[in-house]
Amino acid sequence: MNQLLTEEKTTTKFDNIFPAWNDIPQEVRMDFPIHQKEYLINGELKLWEGRTNKIFSPVYVKNETGLERVEVGSHPLLTTEEALKAVDAAYHAYDLGRGLWPTLSVKLRIDAMMKFVSLMKTKREEVVKLLMWEIAKSKPDSEKEFDRTIQYILDTIEALKDLDRSTSRLHKEEGIYAQIRRGPLGVVLCMGPYNYPLNETFSTLIPALIMGNSVVFKPAKFGVLLIKPLLDAFRDAFPKGVINVIYGEGKEIIGPIMESGKIDVFAFIGTSRVANIIKKAHPKPNRLRSVLGLEAKNPAIILQDADIDNAVNESITGNLSFNGQRCTAIKIIFVHESISKIFIDKYIAKLNTLKYGMPWENGVTLTPLPELTKPAYLKEIIDDAISKGAQIINESGGEQNNTYCHPAVLFPVNSAMRVWNEEQFGPVVPIATYKKINEVIGYMETSNYGQQVSVFGKDATRLAELIDPLANQVCRVNINSQCQRGPDKYPFNGRKDSAEGTLSVTDALRVFSIRTTVAFKEGDLNKNIVSNILEGRKSNFLSTDYIL
Ligand code: G3H
Repeated sequence: MNQLLTEEKTTTKFDNIFPAWNDIPQEVRMDFPIHQKEYLINGELKLWEGRTNKIFSPVYVKNETGLERVEVGSHPLLTTEEALKAVDAAYHAYDLGRGLWPTLSVKLRIDAMMKFVSLMKTKREEVVKLLMWEIAKSKPDSEKEFDRTIQYILDTIEALKDLDRSTSRLHKEEGIYAQIRRGPLGVVLCMGPYNYPLNETFSTLIPALIMGNSVVFKPAKFGVLLIKPLLDAFRDAFPKGVINVIYGEGKEIIGPIMESGKIDVFAFIGTSRVANIIKKAHPKPNRLRSVLGLEAKNPAIILQDADIDNAVNESITGNLSFNGQRCTAIKIIFVHESISKIFIDKYIAKLNTLKYGMPWENGVTLTPLPELTKPAYLKEIIDDAISKGAQIINESGGEQNNTYCHPAVLFPVNSAMRVWNEEQFGPVVPIATYKKINEVIGYMETSNYGQQVSVFGKDATRLAELIDPLANQVCRVNINSQCQRGPDKYPFNGRKDSAEGTLSVTDALRVFSIRTTVAFKEGDLNKNIVSNILEGRKSNFLSTDYIL
């Protein structure tokens, strides 16, 4: 079941963070390893007999000889051949816009999606457990990820009905009648991130599908097996070729898919470095639309008159929910020098109350990290900051036991340090002081990122003066509140290297479609033709039917 690793001797209070197998509650145990053999192409679950990739949990278990990392299972490492078959299946399902799915009525596409949701709901327990085992997301957060995704799908369906109703009418301008609807774009390549392997992936996959596109979907690098329970649902709910799910290494399967020139939309949540490589592989970049969620370095600004307790609470959640592995996490704090001591004292006191442990433990916040290289990376940036004058100011800050990295609060940080600009995407909290607010605005103006900011203060006039310049640097200014994506009906986007396109329940329907018009000049012949089409319900596009 397990891979035995040689362990270095540790002497931290986290030595006993990992459980023995018997300590793990029965209800979260699974029958490991889960060897996933199937992949979905052209409506068929095919069995893979080739190379596979082993999947290990961030969770270790204790045995007589030390710690063993739990082997959760494996997934296929498909080759270029299967990848090209997947893109061909999607291409033929779309059939240059003439396929069954892109020409189906909105109502029937909604029916298919409803079937998918009802099948998906039956897999909640399995998916939630796999979220805990594959990426060590806490149980409540794993449950929330599943439930939020179901809600996202239901909201998307309602938003599409609304969109459809608002476009189920004819306009008349300058003697020309027109029906303006949104049509699909073609074949979409969907790739999601490991921190929200279900929710964020589905926040592009679902709108792409429901708007009539066909999709090639590659799960994230961690949180792969949790898609397995949904493969049957994908196969059974949608026409063949409309959704294809493939597994493997990016270089081997994604490069050739892009080079085929058959991808019309690239939906990706990850790093700008990878996004750029993939985009450049398309032979006709002008034909490729991209919907990207990329890095961010969201600052919190604590003004002199801030409610310190609230600023501390919101910053802690902003910094350390899911161990700081959120693109929307607060990744640097600027606190006014006059209140830095009290803010930091309260911050550390609050941090010390956070429970660390395994994802299924009650009340746990801090858990192990899925990326094997992350502990070494975090140590590197912490060491860099210390060598340039910062200190770790919280007890046990930066201590590690294999995949568990206790948060390190670094103070004071400055522009010479890597933590100033690099997106740490993990439990490291850099804190800087400022004298004049222009120092912080300057930081944001020169940053490569422009997603969100949190501002903490009480004086309405002062806050108003800040909102205006900050609103032109980022896409969301949070007042006395942490940065976050939700509610999902609000726009989620970013400036500079942080994003391309806007996602929200309604915006996502727009980014995966294009406004398309059927128009005709006034006149008896045309009026008769159109009346005949409408009354006979002869077209799915040219239709004034209302979906209720
Ligand atoms: O990783 C980025 C996610 O979109 C963050 O979403 O703010 O709801 O945690 P969240």
